[in-house]
Amino acid sequence: MWGTPVPERNAEAAGREPSPRRAPMAVSATLAVNEEVARRRRAGLDTVPLGFGEAGVPVHPLLSAELARWAGMAAYGPCEGVEELRVAAAGYWDRRGLATDPEQVVAGPGSKALLWALLGACGGAVALARPSWVSYAAQAALHGLPAHLVPTVPGQGGVPDPERLEVTAVRARRDGVPLGAVVLTLPDNPTGTLAEPGVVAAVCEVARAHDLLVVSDEIYRDLLHDESAAFTSPAELAPERVVLTTGPSKNLALGGWRLGVARFPATDEGRALRETVVAVGSEVWSAPAHPVQRAAALAFTEPPELRDRVRASARLHARVAEATADVFTAAGADVPRPQAGFYLYPDMTPLLGNLGITGDPAGITDTTVASTLLAGHGVATLPGSAFGDDPARLRLRIATSLLYGDDSQREQALRGDDPARLPWIAAHLDRLAEVLSGRPRA
Ligand SMILES: Cc1ncc(COP(=O)(O)O)c(C=O)c1O
Repeated sequence: MWGTPVPERNAEAAGREPSPRRAPMAVSATLAVNEEVARRRRAGLDTVPLGFGEAGVPVHPLLSAELARWAGMAAYGPCEGVEELRVAAAGYWDRRGLATDPEQVVAGPGSKALLWALLGACGGAVALARPSWVSYAAQAALHGLPAHLVPTVPGQGGVPDPERLEVTAVRARRDGVPLGAVVLTLPDNPTGTLAEPGVVAAVCEVARAHDLLVVSDEIYRDLLHDESAAFTSPAELAPERVVLTTGPSKNLALGGWRLGVARFPATDEGRALRETVVAVGSEVWSAPAHPVQRAAALAFTEPPELRDRVRASARLHARVAEATADVFTAAGADVPRPQAGFYLYPDMTPLLGNLGITGDPAGITDTTVASTLLAGHGVATLPGSAFGDDPARLRLRIATSLLYGDDSQREQALRGDDPARLPWIAAHLDRLAEVLSGRPRA
């Protein structure tokens, strides 16, 4: 069911000429802004780094020791990931109320790679929230799959509005390329919000009605600012059709170690999809790096030291994201309050005058705002359109986690009661307040 062939992909089989070459692709917007900030630093230009979504917390020594302990393991190992890691990941999900057999788990070099393999294996068009994380639509395009951007219910980022998803599913079927999957991000990047259980449940109903695979990207799950906030995974509601992905890139800030895991449904179809993803992995990455898998296995067993680290990180992200949201709000921007991770998604429309952006409003886009902030004021952000949003809505994705500073400053930020008042973070926030309110530099 989830492998419906897509006409465009089968041009050759249909007797048409396949297109000779793919359109050129640009480097992912988040990575590109990171490189630009690094370039500005090398050139000695002051920059407030709010562009790149890296977790900005030091590696916990338990994890570096574990990585070193296994450094001699240079064999490729099984493509699906070593058993110790799959058992540990299953335990991680068990503790969150999702009974999991290690046979349901696949590891890959980052959840990003697994998501790419998954979307390709699933086939069919893909429904995404608008806005949603940069790479989903780009990955669908790499597979030659259409991506439908479905607006969210206001304040419920990461999940397509169920009513509009229903309309999209009907229309896609009528147009000849039915939806194969819908992707949810719980909690969300770029908006920093968490969709309510009722919206998740309604999306699961639409998915059932149209036989869609639900891909639930839960990489920010452990970074809820309020630990007691209600979190409902679609895997609790529609276990037969949900693939979950996660990894230690955000909760333990191990993004550069490149490790992610996926949990497939315990059904025949789930097993078949898993086998396809493993087969794709075997041709593209062979296996994730063995020492990293061992360190990730330790992470997924959640010893008390690492639990404490994750809670301290969530607290740090919450305090700095809140303080940054306050700066935007005080200047007059409209910002949904952040609920998880280290992202904000302000609407910059009220601040155009302060930023010196004048002229025909019809010609102003979110890229105008992001470029003015960077080139004119040294504030790096990303335009909402990088996340598929309407460029005319003038929203920006703000990542607050690179405000924490260098490694020793990050340690202090993790331990501090009021990290936003640490001098190096406060200096960035003061500069941001000046820029957003149109005040001259102090
Ligand atoms: C929503 C979301 N999903 C997935 C990823 C990729 O994570 P990984 O490091 O596991 O590939 C990111 C990283 O920015 C993300 O923000």
